[in-house]
Amino acid sequence: MAVVEEKATPKRMYKRNDPDMPEEFRQLLVKLLGGHLENNGNPEYRRILAKIADAGLRYAPHGRAMEIEAEIIKQEVAHGQIVQEMLESLGVDPTGERPIKQYAFHIPFESWIDLAWFHALIDRVGLYVGVEWTGSPYEPLARVSPQLEADEEFHTKAGFLHLREICATAEGKAKAQEALKKWWPAALDMFGRSTSRNSPLYVKWGIKMHGNEELRQRYIADTVPEIRKLGLEVPDNLANRRFL
Ligand SMILES: [Fe+2]
Ligand SMILES: [Fe+2]
Repeated sequence: MAVVEEKATPKRMYKRNDPDMPEEFRQLLVKLLGGHLENNGNPEYRRILAKIADAGLRYAPHGRAMEIEAEIIKQEVAHGQIVQEMLESLGVDPTGERPIKQYAFHIPFESWIDLAWFHALIDRVGLYVGVEWTGSPYEPLARVSPQLEADEEFHTKAGFLHLREICATAEGKAKAQEALKKWWPAALDMFGRSTSRNSPLYVKWGIKMHGNEELRQRYIADTVPEIRKLGLEVPDNLANRRFL
């Protein structure tokens, strides 16, 4: 067995229903995609999308912002369908309740500002996931990744667009600064624990190229300047964190 594993290099691409796919690799893909939020077979994903759609249409300050929110939801439904079908092709039933552990998705939207930060910071984490998946040796995953990445880039940019409008007034700026206290730690916690045991295995198979902490640090380096452009201060990276 060890010899077979030694021969499996991350360069090798595996197609849908590939008979040569090593079992350890298949199981990691199932774990990765089965635990992934975007899956239309998971009722929890539907509830989270409904919450985002509700906030978007309820709080958007004008019609153009409503359109952007509707476009984001449309794309998230497409992402959920892609993952559902990929799980099916790996021989897994994608339906049924799968709890979403990342608490960022359970933070209530009390205002338009909350939703703007959600897009700016939480959707932005998806961008880093997309970059990882682009290098995946599973061909169906590698093929859809550039689209997922482009969509999540649109979502984070939409969030920052909303925030620029919000921060145009002193009152809006103060509220955005206050709300950042809950969204910044939630975003950083999305990357998982620095000591996660899964990381080296995922890296070995080329499903993830970087460890949790490496991606988190990259996210921080890229995102801090964007927040400062709004004239806001970034909270301490360790304040209110739950997973270190
Ligand atoms: Fe998405
Ligand atoms: Fe998104």
